[in-house]
Amino acid sequence: MMQSRFTRFGFPLFVACLLAAMLAACGQAPASNGGGSASSSGSSSGGNASSSCSSPPKLAKKDHYKVGFSQNASNNPWRLAETASIKSEAGKRGDQLVFADAANSGSKQVSDVENMVAQKVDVILLAPITETALIPAIKQARTACIPVILIDRDVDHTLAKPNADYVTFIGSDFVQQGKRVADWLVKQTNGSAKIIELEGTTGASPAINRKKGFDDEIKSQANMKILASQDGDFSRDTGRKVMQTLLQSHPDVTVVYAHNDEMAIGAISALKAAGKQPGKDVIVCSIDGEKDGLNAIIAGEEGTVVQSSPFFGPVSFQTIDQYAGGTKLDDWIVVKDQQFTKDNAQQNLANSF
Ligand code: AHR
Repeated sequence: MMQSRFTRFGFPLFVACLLAAMLAACGQAPASNGGGSASSSGSSSGGNASSSCSSPPKLAKKDHYKVGFSQNASNNPWRLAETASIKSEAGKRGDQLVFADAANSGSKQVSDVENMVAQKVDVILLAPITETALIPAIKQARTACIPVILIDRDVDHTLAKPNADYVTFIGSDFVQQGKRVADWLVKQTNGSAKIIELEGTTGASPAINRKKGFDDEIKSQANMKILASQDGDFSRDTGRKVMQTLLQSHPDVTVVYAHNDEMAIGAISALKAAGKQPGKDVIVCSIDGEKDGLNAIIAGEEGTVVQSSPFFGPVSFQTIDQYAGGTKLDDWIVVKDQQFTKDNAQQNLANSF
């Protein structure tokens, strides 16, 4: 009788309990790997193992942090100034910096971030090469309970979201930078120009948005025409070569708009080699605020340079402190930029890079 009661009621109840226990355990699995509490035994590869791992992962307050900084390249003065600013601020605070330079390669930058995760840094400052290449690495860091703060370049928000996959983006308003160049040109040329545009690295957020801000503004001007717009990879030498080629099909160019100073300096060399006088025959404009850009304005070879500040050290580490202290951060911390012309280039030369 007892046995038949167990068979009729007890056994199904036992199976139901077992199933419920298994389901509960399954429900916790993603939480511990992808956003739940990380165990202090080190099952998480992150450096934030004792905090509760939400999305984005929290950062435990410390006197000193182990900070990863993944730089996408070190091939121009802007990148070097950015790295120097981060290193100097880390040094001032006595924080440990784990630095990696991806040498202009998306796949190297992904493995650089993976290494930082393996080294259990507390937080990662990431300057992603393009809007899409670093998405898997951002998600991997989040899974390891390590918060990521994007600096200088943004990512595609349909693929990774601020205040979820990563903490926030600290950077300039690139659309506004392009618009400022266009507005200056409209005044200088009385709304009449034939333009060659040298774009930054394809897929990089400053290239996408500096183009958008500029092109949208130029579209509203009946007598301003973009003759050609081509990738110059944010590089001086590529900018020079692209300009050299484009000059052959567009010798009537009157304006060059380069997405950074490096490409503008390259374009100036190409213009001179083609027998044109930059600043007289062709107005050259760009973005960044390098010493070479400001000197080109002083020499009368560039018209205007809209600044894109590379000095991310103070704001990045202040943001780390605020985040660890529980401050609710905006999705985008906007870096404010100046604009340089012949009226202020000389006085800003000492602070350029
Ligand atoms: O992301 C900022 C841009 O990248 C700078 O304008 C450029 O010089 C750099 O390589």
